Amino acid sequence: MLSGFVLALSAPRTAHTAPASRAVGLPEPDPSSPPILVNISKLPKTVEVNITAAVATLSMQPGALSEVFAYNGSVPGPTLDVREGDHVIVHFRNNLPEPTTIHWHGIHLPFEADGSPFQPIAPGKTHDYEFTVRAGTAGTYWYHPHPDRRTGFAIGKGLFGGIVVHAADDPLPSMDEKLIILSDNRFLQDGSIGFAEAASFTGGVDEENGREGPVLFVNGHVMPTVSIRNGEVQRWRLVNASAGRIYRIALSGHTFLHVGSDGGLFEKPLEVKEILLTTGERVELLVRGTGAAGTRIVLQDLPYDRYAPQTRPADWQTTRDLLTLQTTGEAVVNPITIPATLRKITPLDPSKSTAVRTIVFGQGIINGKTMDMSRVDVSTRVGATEIWEIENIVGMDHPFHLHGFQFQVLDRDGVPEPYRAWKDMLNIPKHSTARIIVRYDDYPGKWMFHCHILDHEDHGMMGVLEVR
Ligand code: C2O
Ligand code: CU
Ligand code: CU
Repeated sequence: MLSGFVLALSAPRTAHTAPASRAVGLPEPDPSSPPILVNISKLPKTVEVNITAAVATLSMQPGALSEVFAYNGSVPGPTLDVREGDHVIVHFRNNLPEPTTIHWHGIHLPFEADGSPFQPIAPGKTHDYEFTVRAGTAGTYWYHPHPDRRTGFAIGKGLFGGIVVHAADDPLPSMDEKLIILSDNRFLQDGSIGFAEAASFTGGVDEENGREGPVLFVNGHVMPTVSIRNGEVQRWRLVNASAGRIYRIALSGHTFLHVGSDGGLFEKPLEVKEILLTTGERVELLVRGTGAAGTRIVLQDLPYDRYAPQTRPADWQTTRDLLTLQTTGEAVVNPITIPATLRKITPLDPSKSTAVRTIVFGQGIINGKTMDMSRVDVSTRVGATEIWEIENIVGMDHPFHLHGFQFQVLDRDGVPEPYRAWKDMLNIPKHSTARIIVRYDDYPGKWMFHCHILDHEDHGMMGVLEVR
C-alpha cells in the first residue's frame, strides 16, 4: 500500500497543454535550481543554445572564492531543457586552457555528437553539436566533458550540467519539479579546488576510491532549503555528478515514490525508503510534504560501503545531510492522483540475442586491459541484440556505463530484476555479476563503455564498442 500518495487504479491523463516553454503554466524556477539554457531559435521543435566553457571565479563556499571551470559561468552549468522530438543545436566554445568535449550522458544520438575522447575540441576552438531527441526518451540526463584521461579533473573543476527531456505526453500530473544535481568537492585553505598529487598518499587513495570531497553540494549550494506545502507532491530529478561517491539517498524516515531512472519513467511507481544512486546515475522521485508549517526533514546520504578495506575512509559510516525540505504555512493542498501505471516498457527479448559479451572488471582494468583508443574491444552490427555479462571480481564497487544505447537489466547475481527500466548506469557491487541486454537500434560508431568512477575511467578502465 502506497501510503500518503493516492494512486489511481487506471491511468488517467490530466489534459495538460504541452508547454511551449517552461514559462507556461509552470511555477517560477526555484532559486536553488541551476539556470536554464536560453533557446535562441525561433523555429518550432528546435532548441538552439550557446555553451562556453571557461575559467571563472565563483564563491562555492561561504567566505571563499574558488577558481573553477564553468559552463556559461555557473556550477552546475545551465540546464538543457528540451522535449521529445526537439532538434538540438549546441554552439560550443572552448575557452579553457586545455582540450575538452561535451558528452551528452545517456542521450541516444549519432556518434559524431557523442563528445567522446575521439572528438576533442582544442582550446579557443568552437564546435556545433547536433542531435534530435527521440520519442520515448523523456527523462533526466546530464552533460559533462570527456577528454582523454582528464574527465575527473574537468568535472571536479566544475564542468557538469543537467539535461531534462520532457515527454510529449507525460503520464504524471503536472506538479512542481526540481532538478537536484549532487556533487562533492575538496578545497584547499585558500579556497582553491584541491586535487592531490598523483604520487602522494592522498593521490593514491583517490586513484583507488575515486576522488571524494568532504563538501557536499546540491546544485552548487551547501544544504539549501526546498519548500513544500503540507500534502503537496513534488517531482524531483536527482543526478549524481560526483567522481566516486555513491549516494544512499533517504528522507529521514519518510518514504517516497521512485518513479524513474536513467532512461525515464518506470512502468509503475515503487514506494521506497532509500535509493542507491551510483555515479553518473539519475532517478526520478515523488516527494510528499507532511506536517505542520515549519516541519523540516532532511535529504540524507546514508553510509554505503563501496570501498576496498585498505582504502575505506575512516569516516565512511557518517550520515551526510544534503538539503532541508521545509513545510510552508500555505494551505494544505488536496492530494493529487498518481497513476498506478506510468508507461509500458517493451522488454528486450533474450532469445533474440546473438552474442553474450563477457566483461570482467578488475581493479582499474576491463578484461585484463586498460583503454587503448586504437583498439576495438567489442565489435558488432546495427540492429543486433546482445547480452553483456558484467562481472566484478574485486573488493570494491565499479559503476558500469555504456555510451549511445540504453539497456535493460536482466538479473543481478542470478536474481531476475524485479521491474523493467531503461538504464545507462549500473552499479556492479564488489564480487558480483549482473547481466544486461542491449539492442544497437541504429547509429554506427565507436562507443565507449567504462567504469564511471572518474579516476578509474581516466586511468584506463574503459573499452570501445564498435557498432558497424
Ligand atoms: Cu558520463 Cu562516458 O560518461
Ligand atoms: Cu556517457
Ligand atoms: Cu571502477
